[in-house]
Amino acid sequence: MGEPGPGTPTLRVAKIKEGTVIDHITAGRALMVLRILGITGREGFVVSVVMNVPSKKMGRKDIVKIEGRELSPEEVNKIALVAPRATINIIRDYEVVEKHRVELPKTIRNIVRCVNPACITNAREPIEPLFYVVSEEPLRLKCHYCGRVMEQQDVFACLYEEA
Ligand code: CTP
Ligand code: ZN
Repeated sequence: MGEPGPGTPTLRVAKIKEGTVIDHITAGRALMVLRILGITGREGFVVSVVMNVPSKKMGRKDIVKIEGRELSPEEVNKIALVAPRATINIIRDYEVVEKHRVELPKTIRNIVRCVNPACITNAREPIEPLFYVVSEEPLRLKCHYCGRVMEQQDVFACLYEEA
């Protein structure tokens, strides 16, 4: 292979043998994606995070590669909260064997906490948070317990705080 020409994307992280590649993540949000998936790095999987790389379709994007673990669509769909254009690629023996666009679920459990301090989910013996997606663009979530509507900035603040 020769030198990459101008505009040729250079491979920043090697192809993986088995696992999951989350591609087309909105630039700068890879860490929120990991937070939503509950991946801390302490699980022992090899995880590669690439941020703000050039993309033909998106200008810039983030990519997360998780080796040795196949994430199910149900697990991954929650990341549509912060990365609505993400694609999930399942890799086996270096080949992409499945590709899905993420789809935002109708309900969100246990990912963000209600901003209402008086909500029962913030009580001393908390109940697991549960929200309904009332709007995708802009993102709005409604608390099942107190009815408070969380705006996109409330949701993101919550994810940054706990990242
Ligand atoms: N990938 C990887 N390891 C492999 C195969 C693919 O890390 N063994 C990564 C690629 O680098 C890419 C993503 O998985 O980030 C999807 O791969 P592929 O479908 O081959 O790329 P594109 O055709 O560019 O994907 P799309 O059509 O979704 O843009
Ligand atoms: Zn509430």
